[in-house]
Amino acid sequence: MEQFNIWGGTPLKGQIRISGSKNSTLPIMAASIMSSEEVIIKNVPDLEDVRVMALALQELGAKVTKEKDVLIINSKNINSSELPEKISRKMRASNLVMGALLGRLKNAQVAYPGGCAIGSRPMDLHVKGFEKLGYVITEEYGYMKGKAQDIKGNEIMLDFPSVGATENIMMAAALTPGTTIIRNAAREPEVVDLQNFLNRMGANIKGAGLDAIRIKGVERLGRVEHTVIPDRIEAGTFMIASAITSGDVWLENVVVEHIHPVISKLSEIGVMVSVANGGLRIVGNRKRYKPSDIKTMPYPGFPTDMQPQFMSFLSTINGTSLVVETIFENRFMHVQELCRMGADIKIEGRVAIIKGSDKLEGARVEASDLRAGAALVLAGLSAIDETVVTGIEHINRGYENILEKLTTLGAKITSTQKVDG
Ligand code: EPZ
Repeated sequence: MEQFNIWGGTPLKGQIRISGSKNSTLPIMAASIMSSEEVIIKNVPDLEDVRVMALALQELGAKVTKEKDVLIINSKNINSSELPEKISRKMRASNLVMGALLGRLKNAQVAYPGGCAIGSRPMDLHVKGFEKLGYVITEEYGYMKGKAQDIKGNEIMLDFPSVGATENIMMAAALTPGTTIIRNAAREPEVVDLQNFLNRMGANIKGAGLDAIRIKGVERLGRVEHTVIPDRIEAGTFMIASAITSGDVWLENVVVEHIHPVISKLSEIGVMVSVANGGLRIVGNRKRYKPSDIKTMPYPGFPTDMQPQFMSFLSTINGTSLVVETIFENRFMHVQELCRMGADIKIEGRVAIIKGSDKLEGARVEASDLRAGAALVLAGLSAIDETVVTGIEHINRGYENILEKLTTLGAKITSTQKVDG
């Protein structure tokens, strides 16, 4: 088990480059099996989740090679429509191959990924969308099975703007004859990136980023070369790393309009954020900060994937702040760990009440999931003395070279492998 040892109190200074988006790369990799020609994906982050998705595609018979940050995928000879449990349990987002398989092969069997630390992660909205397109979905023995029956485009209204359901339905509809409209669609930038990727392969999709997406089914999809958008959540995480340490950090390769909610919230607190040629400068000064409230919402609202990191920051600001988590039912696993560092946080259902104090104290804490782990590292960067964060494998799922990037910015942080037990 890997752990980080962090000695807090050093203001971070310097410049780093933000990597390609994990949550854009994963659906785009899934969509690559819809083409029977070569697909080239650039700016791919080197992450555990990307390696697992590559395994999933190879399980289906695709050829996947990686040269630095470029993925070359050839699904000419995919020979299976079954994604086994051993893969889907490793990473939930592998369920995104369901829509791609239904589109390409008109049948699919995907083992249910199951829940994770932040919630049960159901797929009812995905299933309802597939069924509206005429795919018969059965659920047996922990597998979701889909088969084309009388498939044609249709109008689909999502009860909730689910990112995964929007992406899965978009992929299935892209190769389903007729016109499909997805209403109350997720508007995340990663959905727009997937639309652009599919259109470059020959799909006919309009409206991603708005609340209704129109998809005209086509016969087949061809080759494409695509560069993945920067990771807005990694950018937000490093913005807080600068703010929480009263640092002065320059982030390059950032799409500013993807992180307006984070920029405006940090500015409201008193962090100086300036924008210049494709990058951001974040200057922190703890003397200026005042408490603030956040409420997570679907894009373009405040992103749930930034909630744990913000909670760490708010815990170090004198005064009372409120955090309302409206997206996932159990995304407060980091709270008890922050309290071990001296944070004063009370949970009432989906609301966390934070009584911030100047400093947190170092402690031994455990990461329960990806963003909770990032939040604990941020808390350690500002805490007095040493903080030990265990469960770093969660963090490596979604942050490329986080240790090197933090070290480049002057953080006092080391990594050690601990034998389990
Ligand atoms: C995507 O997950 C992201 N993952 C998540 O990022 C992100 O937190 C989430 O969107 C919300 O923005 C990837 O893109 C790989 P949802 P997804 O479907 O698609 C409920 C990270 O840290 N729901 O929008 O699974 C669900 O239970 C990860 O990088 C249903 O009820 O999220 C949840 O409460 C964590 N039925 C809410 O919707 C369904 O069929 C949002 O889920 C589907 C979802």
